[in-house]
Amino acid sequence: MHAFSYKDGSLHCEEVDLAGLAAEHGTPLYVYSAGTIVDHFRRLDAALAGVDHEIAYAVKANSNLSVLRLLASEGAGFDIVSGGELFRVIKAGGDPAHCTFAGVGKTRDEIVYALEQGIYSFNVESEEELRYLDEVAGSLGLVAPAAVRVNPNVDAKTHKYISTGKSENKFGVDFERISALYERAAAELKNIRLRGLQMHIGSQLTSVDPFVEAVDKVAPLAAELKRLYGIEFWSIGGGIGIIYKESLESGSAEWWEGKEAAERPLTTDLYGSMLVPRLKDLGLRILLEPGRFIVGNAGVLLTRCLYEKKGSAKTFKIVDAGMNDLIRPALYEGHHEIVPVKQPASGARVTVDVVGPICESGDFFCQDRELDDFRPGETVALMSAGAYGFVMASNYNSRPLPAEILVEGDSATVVRKRQALDDLIAGEL
Ligand code: LLP
Repeated sequence: MHAFSYKDGSLHCEEVDLAGLAAEHGTPLYVYSAGTIVDHFRRLDAALAGVDHEIAYAVKANSNLSVLRLLASEGAGFDIVSGGELFRVIKAGGDPAHCTFAGVGKTRDEIVYALEQGIYSFNVESEEELRYLDEVAGSLGLVAPAAVRVNPNVDAKTHKYISTGKSENKFGVDFERISALYERAAAELKNIRLRGLQMHIGSQLTSVDPFVEAVDKVAPLAAELKRLYGIEFWSIGGGIGIIYKESLESGSAEWWEGKEAAERPLTTDLYGSMLVPRLKDLGLRILLEPGRFIVGNAGVLLTRCLYEKKGSAKTFKIVDAGMNDLIRPALYEGHHEIVPVKQPASGARVTVDVVGPICESGDFFCQDRELDDFRPGETVALMSAGAYGFVMASNYNSRPLPAEILVEGDSATVVRKRQALDDLIAGEL
């Protein structure tokens, strides 16, 4: 569920009118609902209540300082993938002792920084990296807490670019090689403390089955590693999918109630009820690394229609946001609902391509899609843009990055200023 809905024909985020925000702050503009972020965090937390757990929010999904601060105040830990993300977490008041550091290519500088800050665990992706971590920790006279990422070879049945749990992916260590690796590490790597085990099979999973399959496959291994080396946690990763199609409708309780159980999207209740019984007797602290689930449906990208161009084959609505602002449609064929912030009185529908100003044919937000009509000068919302939206934005075509707004009830705060032209050349010599 989320807090975006029409009130008297105007799309609102919580109590704030989005047309008003676009008029005041300009477009493209990211808008997030604090209430939705908190609601998602609490729902997931409640669903895992039956097991000792910690939610380590995947910072990569949305790393705005205010979003991190909000989650830190809810008691979240953080899953980071770079020194930069650790820096952000610390600036936002997050506790490094509740940070896990993932990623296949950690540099020496990043490792040193994370060791000095005292993170909870390095989630290591290869034997080579584990040995390097041992060496770097040793050179500083420190012991590095570590977990190895197991690749369970489970098909997450998601887009090929965001599937990570198969043997052919670059992530983790093959399931069959993990036991021997822990044995070697325990015997040889004196500056490593084997603290846990980690896995993550992919992102935007819309069925609970691959999670169940992976947990069932890896649970005996986790138990064995606890017995042999005293590991204390098992991170089962992130990946809980969200609703992209019918995103606006899914904000209401009625929409959920109207769905048969079988056709309901993955819920925290289902996730918890299937996984908690499988996890609770292991005696391990269970970590989760959700990103998209927490923030995805909690954000929209507002963009204004500049032109309508009628070609011989198609009608294009050209908007002021481009693939540099939201790359998911271009990169993953990601679907984002596109709705006018003012419901058209006529109720007219049109079949159009909504495209951006960038000089690339891949710069589209939808193709041949039937939408509520909107005219040049009017603003539309690209729904479900809170995760992997702003964080993947770039200055391509020398376009300044959009502003970000956080809404709480009836107040809207600019949590990141729109870039100015000078920002585009800052640092260039
Ligand atoms: N843990 C690890 C080790 C990960 O690699 C990821 C995401 C997560 C947790 C969080 O996954 P989530 O709960 O958000 O699904 N840019 C793509 C998604 C890339 C996901 C990368 N890893 C997109 O826009 O769909």
